[in-house]
Amino acid sequence: MAARLVIEGGVPLRGAVSASSAKNAALPALAATLLTAEPVVLENLPALADVTTISRLIEQLGAEFAVERDGATRVRVARVKSHEAPYELVSTMRASVLVLGPLLARTGVARVALPGGCAIGLRPIDLHLKGLRRLGADIGIENGYVEARASRLKGCRISLDLVTVTGTENLMMAAALAEGTTVIENAAREPEVVDLARLLQAMGATIEGAGTERIEIVGAAELGGCRHRIIPDRIETGTLLVAGAITGGDVTVTNAVPRHLGALLAKLEEAGAVLDVGENRIRCRGPERPRPTDVITSPFPGFPTDMQAQLMTLLGLAEGLSRITETIFENRFMHAAELNRMGARIEIDGAMALVRGVPHYQGAPVMATDLRASASLVLAGLAARGRTEVSRVYHLDRGYERLEAKLQSLGARVGRLA
Ligand code: UD1
Repeated sequence: MAARLVIEGGVPLRGAVSASSAKNAALPALAATLLTAEPVVLENLPALADVTTISRLIEQLGAEFAVERDGATRVRVARVKSHEAPYELVSTMRASVLVLGPLLARTGVARVALPGGCAIGLRPIDLHLKGLRRLGADIGIENGYVEARASRLKGCRISLDLVTVTGTENLMMAAALAEGTTVIENAAREPEVVDLARLLQAMGATIEGAGTERIEIVGAAELGGCRHRIIPDRIETGTLLVAGAITGGDVTVTNAVPRHLGALLAKLEEAGAVLDVGENRIRCRGPERPRPTDVITSPFPGFPTDMQAQLMTLLGLAEGLSRITETIFENRFMHAAELNRMGARIEIDGAMALVRGVPHYQGAPVMATDLRASASLVLAGLAARGRTEVSRVYHLDRGYERLEAKLQSLGARVGRLA
């Protein structure tokens, strides 16, 4: 049987805990190492299953890894020795598709398995491909693989039909080695996109506008090595703050970037949490009982879909009715049925969840279905009366670094069964 987390609920969490570096910034950073033959040193890669997966992938493509004396990871792709991202890796992690843009830009050839649907929705990559075609790539789909070729990509104007995070990142990386200037309109404004721009700039790229909806990239003939520090994980930070709020505790997250969390902090306050926001720390004191509020997910700076499940767990205990609307993914409410098994009263109506607050959850065996859903079940377990067993925690390990150890340090009674 796969590992499970066992939680004895009802302990108010107290203390301070540090956020790890961001999964969704580490993945494009590792993909970006494919753009240069020189070493790129990443100071603070988080120890996560998804980071291991993309590391294995770029290793197959030619990357060599070394650990520096200070613990930083040195990645060097002196020579690209394969052009293929195989199905076995892309199917475990869709973000593997991030190697497409850099591989194509550096070598003129890339073969990447087409990701299928996933637990939370269809998630096509048509906009990545459309953008690369605009940059001059010749792209076909053969036997389940994207086959991309180009002699040298040429800068152009790309207007994205909808905001896509990894799509924006893939195109930024490709454009960094293209000939001439590329403008990406309707670009994603997520902090992870800005972090990637910072890395590419340190590698010698000229990029303006990251963090706005219009990013301009002046392609270079070559990029060089650099040293880069990845931003803290805003979703992990948010999850830990909700852990404080939902247990009526008092949790401070250090190494946090409050400006990356504006929409979540607003919702926590509406739900009755008392926040104390410093320059790089956030303290959250939980309410006696949360107040209901409405939430709608949207691209940054809107409320992140990656925090929807965790906030739903909090609002499931509110005094009254909350409405949560999911606009990014079409099937991202699978945690609701599991929460209902713990006593929640959540009804799904298309893209909206009607959350009627209950006074408390009861511990139960529950099953994680995806990364953030598993975090929401852990949160429910922390608040519940009695014992909760969350199975399929490999989902959790994809994106949270030592979550149970961090929760234990705050006083939670949580353990892992192998
Ligand atoms: C990234 C994040 C993920 C987060 C999501 C939305 C990483 C590694 N993952 O995923 O944690 O939940 O952003 O904030 O950074 N779409 C298309 N065609 C495309 C691309 C996307 O239709 O070519 C759709 C998707 O199906 C989805 C929406 O656009 O409905 C947004 O997805 P996108 O921003 O691309 O998500 P990811 O980059 O995959």
